Amino acid sequence: MRAIQYQPDRLDLLDQTRLPHQAVFITCRSAKDVYEAIRSMRVRGAPAIGAAAAFGLALEARRIDPAEVRTRLPEVAAWMKTARPTAVNLMQAVDEMMEALENAPPGSEADVLYERAVAIAEQDVRTNRRIGEIGAMRIARHGGRVLTHCNTGSLATVEYGTALGILRAMRDAGTLEHVYVDETRPYLQGARLTAYELQEEGIPFDIITDSTAGFAMKLGWIDAVIVGADRIAQNGDTANKIGTYALAVLAAYHGIPFYVAAPTTTVDLATPCGDAIPIEERSAEEVTHWMGKPVAPEGASARHLAFDVTPNHLITAIITEAGVAEPPYAESLARLCENRYRKTKLEG
Ligand code: MRU
Repeated sequence: MRAIQYQPDRLDLLDQTRLPHQAVFITCRSAKDVYEAIRSMRVRGAPAIGAAAAFGLALEARRIDPAEVRTRLPEVAAWMKTARPTAVNLMQAVDEMMEALENAPPGSEADVLYERAVAIAEQDVRTNRRIGEIGAMRIARHGGRVLTHCNTGSLATVEYGTALGILRAMRDAGTLEHVYVDETRPYLQGARLTAYELQEEGIPFDIITDSTAGFAMKLGWIDAVIVGADRIAQNGDTANKIGTYALAVLAAYHGIPFYVAAPTTTVDLATPCGDAIPIEERSAEEVTHWMGKPVAPEGASARHLAFDVTPNHLITAIITEAGVAEPPYAESLARLCENRYRKTKLEG
């Protein structure tokens, strides 16, 4: 079942804040509905956020007086980009929608935008399948016991997933032995969402607390680490869910390969290095409370950085649908992204 279901006049999103215990869809009918779903993390994960935002703009185009779509939608688009600042797929998808708007024959704007949103969503599915194939071959050389962080599966994308897609492909190839799932404080995307997806698939796994990862490596449980990405800078520095940096440091210390899996739409060649990636800081209450109940003393102060940046030298390779980028990333990522632009032009 897809977590993102679309029709020209509605977008149904599986509410990820209620998983794994309740599988409830919410219906969005405007850009504002989608913006709020993204901000509140009812839909989350970089590619899923990008696709949802694209549909949000398409929905809005249908609500606006056709004579005003071209003048009013750009403002909505700029606002949509502010829903979450780190995942660059959001910015890429919104820019792609605005380009489609510019080229749309007058009078057909809403239809053209819907078709473009569908294209973005369906492209994501094909991309993830390819990342899975490429990644499964690459990871299997290290062994079948893999540690992952956050949720990078069907819930974080339109379907199949990136890092979790590789795990699916390894399972299909018979090379996956066991998955260790970081619980991923404070939102528990690992314990709630990745565990949910792996269980549905019948893939053997154990959830571990984030602080167990280092000792699990020391005990020899882990052959490789695979994580997703929210933004990969031109030099390969990678922003991903908070805790990823610590995992990369631990993996380097223990001599364990550390992979990033992401579509080339997550590569931001305009951002030179990790220092230039905006890091979302979310409400402290998401740390001091759980499901609305306090877990810290009343009035306790907290910081909630939602992402961190892993420097390129800690990353063994970056697996994309266009191939595997090896260091030095400035060259390899530029080459893989160039292939994407050329292919999009040919297909277009
Ligand atoms: O805050 P989230 O849950 O949106 O963060 C998600 C992640 O960090 C994922 O690892 C990343 O978006 C890749 S999803 C394929």
